[in-house]
Amino acid sequence: MEYKKIEDLDTFTLKEAISAYGSGVLPFWREAVYKKPYKLESRRYIGCKAKLIDWIFGLIEAETEDVETFCDIFAGTGSVSNRAVNLYKHVIINDFLYSNNIIYKAFFAVGDWNEDKIFDLLDAFNNIDVDSIKDNYFSINYGNKYFDMSSAKLIGHIRDVIEDIKSTLTEKEYCILIASLIYSMDRIANTLGHFEAYIKKEIKPRKFIMRLIDVRSIEGVTIYKEDANELARQVHTDIVYLDPPYNSRQYSRFYHVYEVLVKWNKPELKGDARKPAEENMSDYCRTKAFNAFTDLVANIDAKYIVVSYNNTYKSKSSSSENKIKLEQIEDVLNKCGTTKVYTHKHQAFNAGKTEFDDHKEYLFITKVDNEKRNSSFSTILCGR
Ligand SMILES: C[S@@+](CC[C@H](N)C(=O)[O-])C[C@H]1O[C@@H](n2cnc3c(N)ncnc32)[C@H](O)[C@@H]1O
Repeated sequence: MEYKKIEDLDTFTLKEAISAYGSGVLPFWREAVYKKPYKLESRRYIGCKAKLIDWIFGLIEAETEDVETFCDIFAGTGSVSNRAVNLYKHVIINDFLYSNNIIYKAFFAVGDWNEDKIFDLLDAFNNIDVDSIKDNYFSINYGNKYFDMSSAKLIGHIRDVIEDIKSTLTEKEYCILIASLIYSMDRIANTLGHFEAYIKKEIKPRKFIMRLIDVRSIEGVTIYKEDANELARQVHTDIVYLDPPYNSRQYSRFYHVYEVLVKWNKPELKGDARKPAEENMSDYCRTKAFNAFTDLVANIDAKYIVVSYNNTYKSKSSSSENKIKLEQIEDVLNKCGTTKVYTHKHQAFNAGKTEFDDHKEYLFITKVDNEKRNSSFSTILCGR
C-alpha cells in the first residue's frame, strides 16, 4: 500500500485510518497529522490582530528606532508577540487569562520536550475508543452544548489523563499537551467562536482529532500572567503595545471553558452557559475603563507607547459599545509625548447583532517625552 498517496489522510482519526488501511499506516498518519501543526493565529479569538499584523508592524518599524525590547501587555492570542519575537531581542508577553498563559508557554517558552514522547501520547489519545470511557466532568457539563457528547467525553478524559501523568512530563510538555487540546477543541466547538453561548441546534457528531501546536523555544521571551496595570509598574521596555478590551465583553467569561479546562479544579458551573464563578474581570470592560487606561499609561516606563483601537462604540448593541472614546485615548497619549494616528478599514468580529458602519481600526504611536509625562501625571505618579 502506498500510504503517502492516500488523499486527506489527515482527516481520518487514527482508528479510522488503521481500520481502513491497517496498522502500517501509522507513521504516515503521524506524518500527515502531526507535521501540520496548528499555527498560533489559527484559533478563533475576539479581537485577534493576526490579519492586521503587517500593517501594525509596518508602522511600528517606520516610527520607532533603537528598539530592543517589546511588551505585549494585553496579548490575547499572542499574534502581535508572534511577530515581535522575530524583530526584537526581548519580548514580554502578558495576559491575565490562565488559558492564554499556558498557550504562550507552549508556543514560546524555552523548555525541554521530547517529540517522540508527545507523538506517542497523541497517538494514545487519538486511539481512544469513546464507547469504553465513562461520562466525566467535561461531558456532564458541556456535552451536547459546546461539544457533541462523544467529543466532550474524549476531551474530559484526555484532560484527566494529562493531569494524572503530570509528574512524568516537563513543564513544556504539559503546556504543549494542553495548548494542543485547546487548539484541537476550537476546531469542533459548537459556537460562534466564544463560549458566551452555544449554537442551539442539534449537534452532529464531529471528528475530534488531537493535533500538535507549532512548538518553539525562543530565548528572550518572558511570560507573565498579571493585571496589566500592575505589570506596567514593574517593567521597563522600549515599546509597550496596548490592545485592551474596549467594550463590556469580558474575555474571562467568553473563554470560560478554556479557563476551566486549564485550571482543572472542576468548580461548580452555573446556568445554561455552564460558567464558573467570576474571576479575572477586567476594569477595561467597566465604566472605570478610562481611569484604568489613564493609570496604565501614566505608569508605563517606555520610549514608545503603541495603542490599537477600533470604533465599535457607534454600534447598536450595548455590549459592543466602547467604554473609552477615541478622543480620550488621544488626550491621554498626548499628555506623555507626541502622537501619530493611523487608520485601517477592517471587518471586526461580529456575532450577528452589531452593525459596523465604517468600521475602522486605529493605531496610535506615541514617542514618550518623560518630562512631559511626569508633569502631566504628577498626581498619579507621586510616591513612585
Ligand atoms: C483585545 S484582546 C487582545 C488581542 C490580541 N492583541 C490578539 O491579537 O490576540 C484583550 C486581551 O486583554 C486581556 N485583558 C483584559 N483585561 C486585562 C487586564 N486588566 N490585565 C491583563 N490582561 C487583560 C484579555 O484577556 C484579552 O485577551
